[in-house]
Amino acid sequence: MSARQTRAPRPRPHRSTPAFDLAAYLAHSTALVNRALDRFLPRAAAKPTTIHQAMRYSLFAGGKRLRPALCLAAAEACGGDCREALPLACAVECIHTYSLIHDDLPAMDNDDFRRGKPTNHKVFGEGIAVLAGDALLTQAFEIAAQCRGWPRHSHQAVVLELARASGSRQLVGGQVADLEAEGRRVAVPQLRYIHERKTSALLSCCTRLGGMSANCTARQLEALTAFGYHVGLAFQVIDDILDVTQTSEQLGKTAGKDTAAHKATYPALVGLERSRRIAAELTERAFAALRPFRGRAFALEALAQHLLGRDR
Ligand code: IPE
Ligand code: IPE
Ligand code: MG
Ligand code: MG
Ligand code: MG
Repeated sequence: MSARQTRAPRPRPHRSTPAFDLAAYLAHSTALVNRALDRFLPRAAAKPTTIHQAMRYSLFAGGKRLRPALCLAAAEACGGDCREALPLACAVECIHTYSLIHDDLPAMDNDDFRRGKPTNHKVFGEGIAVLAGDALLTQAFEIAAQCRGWPRHSHQAVVLELARASGSRQLVGGQVADLEAEGRRVAVPQLRYIHERKTSALLSCCTRLGGMSANCTARQLEALTAFGYHVGLAFQVIDDILDVTQTSEQLGKTAGKDTAAHKATYPALVGLERSRRIAAELTERAFAALRPFRGRAFALEALAQHLLGRDR
């Protein structure tokens, strides 16, 4: 069954996993990822120092590290050791951070704040910001290329996974479609197309890579794909909602920019209430995708619930 064919279960008003301490889980996974990223990246003092400082500036600016957490949790759901998934979680965070640096450039969304700080180009200038993004994307492949692969998932399959998710058919393609939709009347299917590519592809890559690092079966990989796909879509709908409902201080990035830039978003297209319902339905589909794990994917489940309710 493909990700899009997953049948939605009856909506549940709320869900909780009381035995699972997600705040502690996130604090632990963030600490692991931060330490590993610090080891993988060239030192700030390495020449040419400007580029290494610029890369580190955005990477350690205080991102929520949700993608690495999804990658580690997916590995654990498949019975794996999160140390096997850690380099891949770092690679995905490098790609995500590159995409944000470029997304904020004046030629794209023209944002001055990100992760509570001035954007990369505001501090280092546009030329260095473009290059810091390029270098982080390349860094991701350098990290992934060092992984040894697993019996069911070769080293080549891992690199291919990252390349496909970040390339012109997925993340970059979504960013192109997002720019081209600015100021235009866009229908819901086209908005879904944009979200599938610019956001959902990388989230589903996170859960797939986590599973692959745990030598997951084809059935588990299919479940993780469907889970990541739906969580990724919900994630972007929530991001669009938060742009309307939160303050810049809460978000660490300028609120209200989507409306000002006439971006195609769910709130603009269907209103806030329906957008919230859509995000909840997508999250229910993500929960449904976890059924093959028979309750062993509690970290993934708690993360999906957290992403739906997040306020930044
Ligand atoms: C923001 O992602 C960009 C989107 C794809 C919506 P996050 O909200 O995960 O940003 P950070 O990593 O916490 O800064
Ligand atoms: C960003 O989407 C998606 C990528 C960077 C791939 P947005 O443009 O909505 O993200 P924010 O709101 O600037 O974080
Ligand atoms: Mg954008
Ligand atoms: Mg943006
Ligand atoms: Mg946004």
